[in-house]
Amino acid sequence: MDRARRDGRGPSGRSGKAARYTDTVCSRLRSHRMNTRVLTGITTSGTPHLGNYVGAVRPAIAASRAADVESFYFLADLHSLIKAQDPARTQRSTLEIAATWLACGLEPDKVWFYRQSDIPEISELNWFLTCIAGKGVLNRAHAYKAAVDKNTAEGEDADAGVTAGLFMYPVLMAADILIFNAKQVPVGRDQVQHIEMARDFAQRFNHVYGREYFELPEALIDEQVATLPGLDGRKMSKSYGNTIPLFVPREELKKLVFSILTDSRAPGEPKQTEGSALFQLYQAFASPEETAGFARAYAEGISWGDAKQRLFERIDAEIAPLRERYEALMADPAAIEATLRRGAERLRERYARPFLVELRHAVGLRDLSTQGGEASEAKKAKAALPLFKQYRENDGRFYFKLLDGEGELLLQSEGFDSPREAGQTIAVIKQAQAADALASPLFNVVADAGAVLDALRALREAA
Ligand code: TRP
Repeated sequence: MDRARRDGRGPSGRSGKAARYTDTVCSRLRSHRMNTRVLTGITTSGTPHLGNYVGAVRPAIAASRAADVESFYFLADLHSLIKAQDPARTQRSTLEIAATWLACGLEPDKVWFYRQSDIPEISELNWFLTCIAGKGVLNRAHAYKAAVDKNTAEGEDADAGVTAGLFMYPVLMAADILIFNAKQVPVGRDQVQHIEMARDFAQRFNHVYGREYFELPEALIDEQVATLPGLDGRKMSKSYGNTIPLFVPREELKKLVFSILTDSRAPGEPKQTEGSALFQLYQAFASPEETAGFARAYAEGISWGDAKQRLFERIDAEIAPLRERYEALMADPAAIEATLRRGAERLRERYARPFLVELRHAVGLRDLSTQGGEASEAKKAKAALPLFKQYRENDGRFYFKLLDGEGELLLQSEGFDSPREAGQTIAVIKQAQAADALASPLFNVVADAGAVLDALRALREAA
């Protein structure tokens, strides 16, 4: 904590404040256990289409409103570099995708919304995990294997045209997830293997460095999520060139809807809902009652022209207000930039920076003046336990400090009005499992956070 903030607090009313701060620390510790962290990454390539909206954006935003979840949504722009190497397009796509999520109702004050490249700690963790990840595990990644198989089938060198970025993709994705210890990761089936790899890397890291630094994430697969058909009836996908962009102007949306492939049944002839792209699209936007009504119209022989008109109006009814917001957002890219930066800055302060302090300590990237080396580690093991010391100063206030087994100062409190308040705060600190629980105006971490956590663990184990 910085000096200015500490000194800025007046001496009066400390007791109420101290109690409140203790509450804050307590509730932080509690929130670690209660709120499930859910994390979603969106690769910033291309322009969002209706399939992305129905399959990803709309359900994810609905999920972000659930109670007891802490949601993380980020633009995976570092990932996008693997495929897209056109800088102007990368920038454009990042803007469009950010504006899309905001226009569709993501609330950047209620969820964490940020851009991957704004959090350099992700890249640092990426390297730590790179040094843990088995190359053999990465050899089995579907995307990499598909590229190798294709090359082999074509008689090319197995790795022709394969970048190390493509090969390392799963490690960067693991860093995205593990840096925030996200528990649940909603993904499509094609990404499940990546989550399994993230678990593998997390486990290895925990094992090698001897503590549960990382929770093991789980893939959350929503079986309900619809895949939307595109203009030609195949799955709507950029790679098929059959998409309907989410935010085209109304007239263009109409044109696109009218270009959806249908069969040659004439007006008056009953039509089949099964296998009808038009019908499936309608269903993705309509209530069950509306869908039943549309099915009746099919049976009664609605003309394809009328069916398309109804579909178009139904989609536009949902999209029009979002489109309006989208256009306003796109007209002010600086505001989006500011939103993203603020999100990243808050998140770095709250989680990423303190966690990296802990992880750097874990792997041995440590302050040299605190020694290190095996000899002193061994000495430490034999040394006495760390100790919380409570005392009263000349100012009449009550303080405590945490000393390691060799008497080195690890943590120093501010002054409290009563020994009870000081004691309560100690009780809270004793439960701290992660560096972010050590961020409090009530005390200062003097050594690095990793050393404090080690000491707390030693105390808990001894208790
Ligand atoms: N690979 C994901 C995709 O293509 C995007 C992504 C990057 C991601 N990092 C992530 C998803 C972390 C979930 C968690 O869809």
